[in-house]
Amino acid sequence: MTRNDYEDHARQAMGAEHVFHRSTRARPPVAVRGEGIYLIDEQGRRYIDACGGAAVSCLGHGHPAVIAAISEQAAQLEYVHTGFFTSEAAEELAAMVAEMSPGSLDRVWYTSSGSEAIEAALKLARQYHLERGETGRRHVIARRLSYHGNTLGALAAGGSAWRRAAYEPLLIDVALVDPCFEYRFAEPGEGPEAYGERAAGALEREIIRLGPETVIAFVAETVVGATSGAVPPVPGYLKKVREICDRHGILMILDEVMCGSGRTGTFLSCEQEGVVPDIVTLGKGLGAGYQPIGGVVCTSEVYEAIAGGSAALKHGQTYNAHPIGCAAALAVQRAVREEGLLGRVEQAGVRLRSLLAERFGDHPHVGDIRGRGLLQAIELVADRSTKAPFDPALAFHQRAKSDAFERGLLIYPGGGTIDGRQGDHILLAPPYNVTDQELEMIVDLLADTLDAVLPS
Ligand SMILES: Cc1ncc(COP(=O)(O)O)c(C=O)c1O
Repeated sequence: MTRNDYEDHARQAMGAEHVFHRSTRARPPVAVRGEGIYLIDEQGRRYIDACGGAAVSCLGHGHPAVIAAISEQAAQLEYVHTGFFTSEAAEELAAMVAEMSPGSLDRVWYTSSGSEAIEAALKLARQYHLERGETGRRHVIARRLSYHGNTLGALAAGGSAWRRAAYEPLLIDVALVDPCFEYRFAEPGEGPEAYGERAAGALEREIIRLGPETVIAFVAETVVGATSGAVPPVPGYLKKVREICDRHGILMILDEVMCGSGRTGTFLSCEQEGVVPDIVTLGKGLGAGYQPIGGVVCTSEVYEAIAGGSAALKHGQTYNAHPIGCAAALAVQRAVREEGLLGRVEQAGVRLRSLLAERFGDHPHVGDIRGRGLLQAIELVADRSTKAPFDPALAFHQRAKSDAFERGLLIYPGGGTIDGRQGDHILLAPPYNVTDQELEMIVDLLADTLDAVLPS
């Protein structure tokens, strides 16, 4: 083909449809720019990004220091394979993550996404036991109503019924226990402490049923994100889980892909529970969407089992520790530190919660307002007194997303909140540098959406 032929081909391709979009029914608008909390489409429409996509864009869009770090890294060294080299960015970022993480969580394995972080964490956990001669450990336990990613291993470890359904025959066997979800599953009159004991007890029963010597790890989101909408654990639950795991020699893996990297006001959410897992996964806010990057952070004990044994995790991917990804995440974490944004998350989280309570505290169709820091959600119900959900066929969460989008507000809705089929929630995850005025706009627009969409 001549150069003109190529140009003609490119022009035709612009008009034709070749991207396999999330829905084959409609092509989403083309986003062309981001500015702080706003995304702007090709028509010049502005959208206030109240959810950072899927709780990703924690610095908002167009942060100059992160953009500069990416272009400097790209100009200097765009890629090395981790089988040959490390990079300054990878080393510095790991040192910073280790310094910010509690206990002896001080070794970082890099990935390019949250799902890959879960895959690597599961393999690391299995290999940890093999190195110690505990070769019979083969079961993973996770929780219903959790989401750990869409690759097959992560999907198997997740308990999101509708995401799993089509792929069940392909999934490894992971035991699923009840989540810790007070609004839905605490018995009437059962206090948080008693409920936490009961929820943790479900884990121990499952361990005993499987045979403790056969269990590799328990995996849970510290604050549940996408499946049931910003559900924090009741106080004491994760401490109890820690004790149970220790009692049976089982590794505790906390998935902080969504709730970690500062989203709830501390670098890791588990710091607020006074619990240190053996392995924690990161993604989303680590690189704030400027680059695709995730990570697995493990304790020195887990690392030493590998280092003192076969000396290599039997894993690896082409883009592990990508220098531009690491440089972007390093710049993001430095910005969070230099701009004092963890403190801002705490304040803004309190402000957002009180705005939601003012607006929706007495709303007939808002059953619960929950979350931590800047990961907050409302759960929609047909009847507040009975907590009865809406008929799933009404898909109010989807309707709310479409209505809000038309108003220029981006929210992260979810359905199947209660059992994978019934229940609707709306998740908000604005950037850490959100202003009070922006929070007010978000809640005003959300109130307009609920007025338009829900029955009166
Ligand atoms: C808690 C949690 N874990 C894992 C993942 C998967 O991350 P990714 O979509 O980057 O693969 C997600 C994504 O939403 C998540 O919320």
